[in-house]
Amino acid sequence: MLANLKDVLADAKARKYAVGAFNGTTLESVRAIIAAAEELGCPVILQHAQSHDNIIDMHEIAPLMLHYAKRASVPVAVHLDHGSSYERCVQAIRLGFTSVMYDASGKDFDTNVAQTAEIVKIAHASGVSVEAELGHVFTSKVVVGEGTTADSADDYNNLDDIYTDPDMARRFVDATGVDCLAVAFGTVHGVYLTEPRLDLDRVSKIRDAAGIPLVMHGGSGVSDADYRVAIQNGICKINYYTYMNKAGGEAVKQYLTADHAALFFDAISLCATSAMKADVLRAMRVFAGK
Ligand code: 13P
Repeated sequence: MLANLKDVLADAKARKYAVGAFNGTTLESVRAIIAAAEELGCPVILQHAQSHDNIIDMHEIAPLMLHYAKRASVPVAVHLDHGSSYERCVQAIRLGFTSVMYDASGKDFDTNVAQTAEIVKIAHASGVSVEAELGHVFTSKVVVGEGTTADSADDYNNLDDIYTDPDMARRFVDATGVDCLAVAFGTVHGVYLTEPRLDLDRVSKIRDAAGIPLVMHGGSGVSDADYRVAIQNGICKINYYTYMNKAGGEAVKQYLTADHAALFFDAISLCATSAMKADVLRAMRVFAGK
């Protein structure tokens, strides 16, 4: 059933678990995410990142995500991940998304507050929840033909300048009225090139200051032990995509190297779906404390 992000996260916060937010970029990944959530009987967030428009446009994937969400036996929030403009968030709201993320984390604090507050006004008037981001989450990207581009804690002299500051988080939440907040404490979007080193104490300080559900971006590739502490410290939504996507790719690679009488594309689709479902299930069990 289609659910509101705010409601889904309120339960997670009260009962100290996290809801997985998985990017559905293909029919295979959408089916894998929903099947895993149904098998485990837990709520899930199906999201589309604006940066994935090159794989499939939001307008094309939205009806598919909403279709699977509505007929699911578990609560499913349909969410815009990393929306970068007012227009994009309004488009997502009109398409039926139940929550939007407006990401102005690259802008200065006052601009982030002012622009996020505008989104909150229109989203809340439409019954849609809002996630915002404060601080800098690292990114590592495999650029085909060019190797990897990445930033990490080693590139910054003072991590206090880029990780989320608890007092600023409190002021941000008070001024904008957002429903949940993505925070920076050492996680990396994409593949981890070195062992994650997370400032998990910072998460509990932000939770105490901000008082709303916190979101971990760059959630795939983190150890189970770190997930558990992060959840205890206030993380209620974990964004997870890269390692699920990788699990699908690796399974297809293996499938292709085996000897088949004939190679059919639909077998590849099913192989990727089943590997991604298994990966999502594994992550969801840890997030849900099951
Ligand atoms: P990963 O790249 O770690 O899977 O994180 C995804 C994410 O944070 C999407 O917003």
